Amino acid sequence: MTQPLTIALDGPVGAGKSTVSDEVAARLGILHLDTGAMYRAAGLAVSRAGVNRDDEAAVTEAVARAEIAVRYENGKQVTLLDGEDVSEAIRTQDAGSMASAVSRFPGVRRQMVFLQQQMARTTSMLLDGRDIGTVVLKDAPVKIYLTATAEARARRRLLQLEEKGEHPDFEAILAEVNARDRQDMNRELDPLRQAEDAVLVDSSDLTFEETVRTILRIVEEKTGVSAAGEA
Ligand code: DC
Repeated sequence: MTQPLTIALDGPVGAGKSTVSDEVAARLGILHLDTGAMYRAAGLAVSRAGVNRDDEAAVTEAVARAEIAVRYENGKQVTLLDGEDVSEAIRTQDAGSMASAVSRFPGVRRQMVFLQQQMARTTSMLLDGRDIGTVVLKDAPVKIYLTATAEARARRRLLQLEEKGEHPDFEAILAEVNARDRQDMNRELDPLRQAEDAVLVDSSDLTFEETVRTILRIVEEKTGVSAAGEA
């Protein structure tokens, strides 16, 4: 069997990891695993179990008892909690904050990392998250650290919300982005940081297409694998 191609993509909130990863993986003809969705499903399991999010033992047990799985339908990730499709239910602000809270605990991280490594062992995948290059796939042949300035990330978020008809305050969004950065970069266990062998891609002044192409170029340089239709 040929070795599956694995790509690790990490970065802070709002850098466009999810949409960029979807597109890069699609052009390479491989799957995209959004690992944040798994932590969100773990957070939902904890909410449903009615457990206090600060009770480490109870949280770890609730996640151990939950069956968190990912399956693909037409190449698209479907996140399952105890057999139920929770792909939509995990997209709320509340689920994000719960995910962030439960992802602090080593027992929870161990379970998620194990599942992620199992999936990437047999299947060519691009995994995006916070600790992929530093913990989950330390030997990945391609590691990308996708970032942008806090202002650029807040601006993009503002546009997304405005497109939904909301009228948010830029300063409030910027404060939220900075708070999430502090939380993800300063947590004790596996904080977000650039792996030594990761290539930094700063998308502050790049369009979506330029960001995708930059990453595809790095993948090709590192592995010789190119996207369908790319010269
Ligand atoms: O990418 P996201 O916003 O969906 O992730 C939700 C939370 O999950 C995020 O605040 C931190 C945590 N997370 C993590 O600790 N490790 C990962 N590989 C992915 C997400």
